[in-house]
Amino acid sequence: MTGSDALATYATDESDVEGRMPDAVVLATSGEDVAATLAVADEWGVPVTPRAGGTGRTGGAVPVAGGIVLATHGLARIKEIDRANLIAVVEPGVVTGDLHAAVEREGLFYAPDPNSLDSCMIGGNLAENAGGPRAFKYGVTRDWVLGLEAHLVGGRTLRVGKRTVKGVTGYDLTALLVGSEGTLAVFTEATLRLVPKPPLLATALALFTDVASAAAAVGAIIEAGVVPRCLEMLDAATLAAVRAAGVAVDLRAGAMLLIEVDGEASEAALLRVGEVASAAAGSVDVVVAQDAAQRDRLWAARRMLSRATRKLARHKLSEDVVVPRSKLAELIARTDEIGEATGVRHLTYGHAGDGNMHVNFLWDDDAERPSVDRAIGMLMRSTVDLGGTLSGEHGIGVSKAQYLPLEQSAELIALQREIKHVFDPKELLNPGKIFPNIGHGGC
Ligand code: MLT
Ligand code: ZN
Repeated sequence: MTGSDALATYATDESDVEGRMPDAVVLATSGEDVAATLAVADEWGVPVTPRAGGTGRTGGAVPVAGGIVLATHGLARIKEIDRANLIAVVEPGVVTGDLHAAVEREGLFYAPDPNSLDSCMIGGNLAENAGGPRAFKYGVTRDWVLGLEAHLVGGRTLRVGKRTVKGVTGYDLTALLVGSEGTLAVFTEATLRLVPKPPLLATALALFTDVASAAAAVGAIIEAGVVPRCLEMLDAATLAAVRAAGVAVDLRAGAMLLIEVDGEASEAALLRVGEVASAAAGSVDVVVAQDAAQRDRLWAARRMLSRATRKLARHKLSEDVVVPRSKLAELIARTDEIGEATGVRHLTYGHAGDGNMHVNFLWDDDAERPSVDRAIGMLMRSTVDLGGTLSGEHGIGVSKAQYLPLEQSAELIALQREIKHVFDPKELLNPGKIFPNIGHGGC
């Protein structure tokens, strides 16, 4: 595909990263298409940007060096759901929510649940090692991948990993490729681990006067010995956006926890969580969802946060920093200090259970952008100071590449570049991602 309107569709993702118009887009429908594209790219020295759903937040699917966008959304088959071995074999263009529905019809469960699950695809989830609310109990995409079919620049096809739960043969290249942000290989098939669908669910929201109280309650819930599958937190500014979107929330509340437990003992566990939350300082109310419809409404309100908060300003950037859970309150306090120091409007929500918070910066006037960049730099430094990491689920991509040296030593970055060189000596695959100024991305 080379028409200019068509090319423009493949020049962006859901980040604000501005790339270069690709010269061509390949709409692959088979592994052979992917291998042939990577062979031609190698022969002619053309950069290739792989892409599945294009819902990424850090520019991972944005072609910063032009060349070819290799779109894999046309490989969209669920090839197998193996009940006996608890495995699904899927192609990269399967929408994550469709995979959930398909395995749940069989009484099975695939846990990774990025909030964009109605549009994001397995290929992007693999590339970014995506997480979601259920990661607190069940882990992220990497924890559910047993094996991959992957293609290298030049056209070689690799099968890595296994179809068994156990298996320690050789280096764990599956773990390396998942989360490599499309810089090492292009996936055409994944063998995923499944588990039986947890039998029962119980969901509640707990309201607090302020985020510091909500953050303290997160610690108290876990100390009480309960591991909810989701433990989400919304701050006051986020609650204001939720109210503006038409959802009624007690006006006394300046923070909310959305808590979900699963398994046979879920009702008893939720009762315990409710007791702990009610006894916590700053508690306003605890409301238990009475039925599936009410639970779905709570989750719909949570899942629409990214879109609802986008309406608050012309520009919005959602970071996904992670700190040790015990530092959650300090991260929120530092975020407020950063807002005051830079004058940049912000709000925070996210996966409090695993310390992974979406600090969102909002601005209307392009002249504010330098202050926003200052605020982001301060947030990244604070995160690392608190013992955290720059990205919990959105990846480094283009947006955060310049901050990588804050977290990782020069030696570690150099070693990763050497690994990249082994897979892709000409640095043609997804240039400009993860590492500051590497390959064609630095042109
Ligand atoms: C979320 O948790 O809603 C997503 O990761 C997207 C975001 O809001 O940044
Ligand atoms: Zn998230």
